Amino acid sequence: MTLSVTAGTAETSASSRNSKPTVGLIGVGKLGTAVGRLLEAAGYPLLAWSRSDSAERNLALSVMLPTAQMASREEILRADYLILAVPGPAAMNLDLSGYDGVIIDATNAWEPTDGDSPAGVNTRAFAQANPDLRVVKTFNHTAYTELTADARPAHVPGRRALGVAGDNEAARHAVARIVDDAGFDPVEMTLPQGHILEPDGPVFGNRFERADLQALVDASTARG
Ligand SMILES: NC(=O)c1ccc[n+]([C@@H]2O[C@H](COP(=O)([O-])OP(=O)(O)OC[C@H]3O[C@@H](n4cnc5c(N)ncnc54)[C@H](OP(=O)(O)O)[C@@H]3O)[C@@H](O)[C@H]2O)c1
Repeated sequence: MTLSVTAGTAETSASSRNSKPTVGLIGVGKLGTAVGRLLEAAGYPLLAWSRSDSAERNLALSVMLPTAQMASREEILRADYLILAVPGPAAMNLDLSGYDGVIIDATNAWEPTDGDSPAGVNTRAFAQANPDLRVVKTFNHTAYTELTADARPAHVPGRRALGVAGDNEAARHAVARIVDDAGFDPVEMTLPQGHILEPDGPVFGNRFERADLQALVDASTARG
């Protein structure tokens, strides 16, 4: 799949009006809009890209994410972060050549949301296929309804933890800050350790606080 131009109304000055970096949503379905709402509430300027451009979709988006600006491919590639929120197999086919920000991969290869996926669809394969991109996996292992229901300010007792997996330490720390701003305690791990976040892993669909998730990370054996 190649990104194509949709309604191009992005203002590239968005991040200069706000101290937060700009986040681009690739896909504005259930997960993309749920994460977008959390980040919008935290003050992040949002851009959004969708393969389809219909009046109904744009109206729905203007209600769900009132500050998000629809962006063309060229515009969204200027975002500081890009959240992949399309089905896992579709994410593998995205052409993000030339992008120099950080990719936040929230996708899975999980039959109920992603349909039949060929073997080998996962964040590590995406990163290996795109060696020039900095890729961090998070937001993938929690239902979109729980993301919006469970977000809490920092230091609230019982705050839910989310795994943040990536091999580029600076990118991973930066995404951890975004996860914290979204309302969750980030628990960092390498991309191989991130297999625990995938649909066949122990974290997927389960609720953990920071210490328990950190214990799982510590106990995990990196996949070869
Ligand atoms: N739903 C959850 O609770 C949840 C939680 C965590 C992670 N995730 C993961 O997030 C990803 C998206 O799930 P979702 O629930 O948000 O799905 P969704 O509601 O069906 O939304 C999917 C989005 O991807 C777009 N899309 C679909 N096929 C595409 C393609 N071939 N090329 C480009 N764009 C395409 C859709 O565009 P159109 O509107 O044009 O169809 C839509 O914007 C999945 O990998 C899923 O596993 C989901």
